[in-house]
Amino acid sequence: MYKIHNHCRACGYAKPVAQGIKSSSTEKLIPVFDLGIQPLANDFCKDGEPHAGYVPLKVLYCPRCSLAQLSVVVDPVTLYRHYAYVTSPSKMMRQHFAALIHDISSESEGKSVLEIGSNDGRLLHMMKDCGFSVLGVDPAENLCELARRNDVPTQIGFFGEDLARILPSTDIVIARHVFCHVDDWQDFVHGLEAVAHKDTLICIEVPYAGDTIKGCEFDTIYHEHLSYLTIKSVRALLEPTRLRLHRIIRYPIHGGAILLMIRRKDSAPELVPMSTLEKEENIIAQDWIQFSDTAHDQISRLRATVQAFRAQGRTVAGLGASAKSTVWISACGFSRKDISFIADTTPQKQYTFSPGTDIPVTDEGAILRELPDYVLMFAWNYREEILEKFKLARSKGVKFIVPVPKIEIV
Ligand code: TMP
Ligand code: ZN
Repeated sequence: MYKIHNHCRACGYAKPVAQGIKSSSTEKLIPVFDLGIQPLANDFCKDGEPHAGYVPLKVLYCPRCSLAQLSVVVDPVTLYRHYAYVTSPSKMMRQHFAALIHDISSESEGKSVLEIGSNDGRLLHMMKDCGFSVLGVDPAENLCELARRNDVPTQIGFFGEDLARILPSTDIVIARHVFCHVDDWQDFVHGLEAVAHKDTLICIEVPYAGDTIKGCEFDTIYHEHLSYLTIKSVRALLEPTRLRLHRIIRYPIHGGAILLMIRRKDSAPELVPMSTLEKEENIIAQDWIQFSDTAHDQISRLRATVQAFRAQGRTVAGLGASAKSTVWISACGFSRKDISFIADTTPQKQYTFSPGTDIPVTDEGAILRELPDYVLMFAWNYREEILEKFKLARSKGVKFIVPVPKIEIV
């Protein structure tokens, strides 16, 4: 179900020199964070359905280009053929999409858009309404079906050079939160080169490792997220290719993301000043090791907080059966005795169990029906929106435990 990965996928550090011949060099990626073995974060199964199993979750750091990555790669077909994650219909996400479309339009006059990892087609639907001609690509059959029903043409498949060869050349390529899920970056970049004409604008949105470390967002580390990118690592990846970094834009979405605007090396304008973010970036192994200490401390604290409430006879539920919830629950070792249920708006997740546990996932209305004493806000990245939405429950005495950036009771 998974393979070991111990060289840098951006710069090739610690890669065996040639196939079959072991590297004689002393190059080794540096282990910086370890969560033991964990269930797959989106493996939400109904009663009786088989689970995918448990896989080690460990982060390695590249001392040459500063990329951090998992020590294993889980078979992508296991992860994505049927995918429970559906793009959030939240207000925050809609606002983010509007900002994204605005920023893309300020850089490109192009009208044809290809979105890689287009999920249920929510972004493309919005772009279509703005006059773009759109095409999505996604490996999840269930999501392609959903997108097509919403009138977003979508091709099933994993994007790479092979698939790109049968796709039309396009003015704008968007890949939101998909690049860090990809193992073979060289193949992905060859695919981008195949669909790009001279003026194509390629927009890759990824969580920014600087924000992950700063906010100690360890719950964004799970088997789907193979890489934790820095700008230095992107430069290292693109250096031998026909593509170059054009511009970087920061967004607050998902706890801190960057949009990498990429163009062909032979396109104009060539010289764009380096962003302050890049000038100031200096992420070293020690930053990740410090992150690891803080994360383990946070895990102990949340476990103690929930167990103390339970010992006092208080009830605790969860909100947001996000992948992040799986990481917290597994790291803290919670079961149904600790968290009675997790409420979530996603129909695909309701009436399943939190991966590796007996904690049921229910509809969102369960919070008001059950009125638990405390609700653990796993979807902390939508904090304000959730606090507003649950005003009534809060007026009835329900308190929220927000675990990130520091445990806080609201
Ligand atoms: P995400 O952080 O990966 O977008 O996942 C957030 C999860 O939380 C997703 O499963 C939807 C769920 N959610 C709710 O149930 N209620 C809400 O109000 C919000 C914002 C999210
Ligand atoms: Zn590297």
